[in-house]
Amino acid sequence: MAFPQENGAAVEPSNGTLEMAPAKPCATWDIDGGAACSPPVRTLAEGQTLVMGSGRDAGVQVFDPAVSARHCELSVAGGVLLIRDLGSKNGVFVGGARVESARLGPGASFVVGRAVVSCLESARLGRFGEDEPVAPIPGVIGASLAMRRVVREARRLADLKGPVLLRGETGSGKDVLARAIHQLGTRRVRPFVPLNVGTLPRELADAELFGHERGAYTGAHGSREGAFVQAHAGTLFLDEIAELPLDLQVKLLRVLEDGEVRPLGGRARRVDVRVISATWAPLHRRVAEGLFRQDLYQRLAVFVVDVPPLRERRADLPSLAARFLEDLGPEVGEKELSSGALSKLASYGWPGNIRELRNVLYRAALASAGRRIGSGDVAVSLDAATPPRCATVSPEQARAVVAGQGGNVSAAARQLGLARSTLRDLLERE
Ligand SMILES: Nc1ncnc2c1ncn2[C@@H]1O[C@H](COP(=O)(O)OP(=O)(O)OP(=O)(O)O)[C@@H](O)[C@H]1O
Ligand SMILES: [Mg+2]
Repeated sequence: MAFPQENGAAVEPSNGTLEMAPAKPCATWDIDGGAACSPPVRTLAEGQTLVMGSGRDAGVQVFDPAVSARHCELSVAGGVLLIRDLGSKNGVFVGGARVESARLGPGASFVVGRAVVSCLESARLGRFGEDEPVAPIPGVIGASLAMRRVVREARRLADLKGPVLLRGETGSGKDVLARAIHQLGTRRVRPFVPLNVGTLPRELADAELFGHERGAYTGAHGSREGAFVQAHAGTLFLDEIAELPLDLQVKLLRVLEDGEVRPLGGRARRVDVRVISATWAPLHRRVAEGLFRQDLYQRLAVFVVDVPPLRERRADLPSLAARFLEDLGPEVGEKELSSGALSKLASYGWPGNIRELRNVLYRAALASAGRRIGSGDVAVSLDAATPPRCATVSPEQARAVVAGQGGNVSAAARQLGLARSTLRDLLERE
C-alpha cells in the first residue's frame, strides 16, 4: 500500500498498515517544540521513550488546552523515531493528516494542538548551554532551537563594534536581525542606515556610500552625505553585499581599514560606524570565483551569523502565524489555524521563508469560509504560490524541497515552479 510521505515522515493512517520508513536512522534525536513546550528541547536516545502532553508529569509538557494530559508517545528504535497517539482527544497530525502513528525522519515535524514539534538529528556536541532559556528580542519571533542560537548570538554581538555578516536565504529575516542587533546595543540612539547594494544603480553607488561634494561630477549640483557619514556613531547595514562591484569593494575596504571616508571631490572625514552586512549568495564562493575580494570578506566577516531558513525552525510556525494573522485581522477578520492546517504548513519546504509564509497565510485566510483556516485552505493557498525564479533557489533549498516531497523530484519541481530538468541541474550542483 502506498503511504503519504511528507517532510521525511512515513505515516501510518488510522486504519492503514505500517510501511517501512526510508528515513535515515539517527542515534539521538532533538525534539524541538519551541515556545509551546517545556522543556523546549529534549534529546531522545536509542531505546528511550517520551510522553508528550499537557499534564505536569509529561516528559515534555505542551501548554495548550487542546492537548490531552498524555497526548502521544515518542520512542527511538533502530535509530528511527516513532510517534504514537495515546488516544488523545484532538489527535496527532503529520503532513496535514491525522495519524495514529508515524515514523519520522530527520527534519520531519508533527502537530499536537497548536504546537509544531520538529524532529532533528541531534547535534549535542557544540550545543553546550543551548537548552537554557534566552531572553527574546522584541519584534523577533523565534523560540526554536535554531532561533535561540541566533538570538543568543545577536545579544552577544550587540555592544561590540566588530563587523557582522548575516547569511541566510531570501525572506529568512536578515533585515529584522540587523535592526535587532542595532536596537540591542548602545548605538541604538544613533542612526541605523540601511543600504541595499544590490539595487543601487551603478553610477550612483559611489556617491550613495561615500558621498560627494558639489560639482564633484557633471550633474552634482549639491553636496551629499554618503551612507557612512549618515551612519556616524550608529550602524550601517549593507544588504546584498555580494553584489558590490569590485572597484567599490576596494574603496569600502579602505574606509573600513582607515576609519576615514573621502567623499568624491571632498576631504577625508573620520567616521565611527559599525557595519552589518547581509548576503543570501554564498560569499565565500564568490571569493573563490574572484568576484569578491578575499581581504574585504575577512574584514566584513569578523562575526558571522547564519539566519536559519524557516524549514529548519518549524517549531516557530505557530507564533509567526499568530502574529501575521493578527496583523491581517483588520482585513480578513479573526482567524485561527486548525491542527491540520498547521501540519500542512509544517510539511512545506518554504523556499521564500517567512515572507512566503505571510503570503500563504493571507491567501489561506481569504480562502477560508469561517473563523477557522483548514488544511484545505492552506493547500489551495500553497498551490497558488508564485513560483520563485530559478536564480533565487539555491541547491540547498532545492534539496530541502525535494526531501519535503519525499524524494519526488517532479512534485518538488511543481512546488518550486521550475522545469524538472532545471531542478535536476540544481540538485547536481555542490
Ligand atoms: N523572526 C521574525 N519575527 C517576525 N517577523 C519576521 C522574522 N523574520 C522575518 N520576519 C518578517 O519576514 C519578512 C522578511 O524578513 P526580512 O526582510 O528580514 O528577510 P531578509 O532575509 O532580509 O530577506 P531578503 O534576502 O529578501 O532581503 C519581513 O516581513 C519580516 O518582518
Ligand atoms: Mg533583506
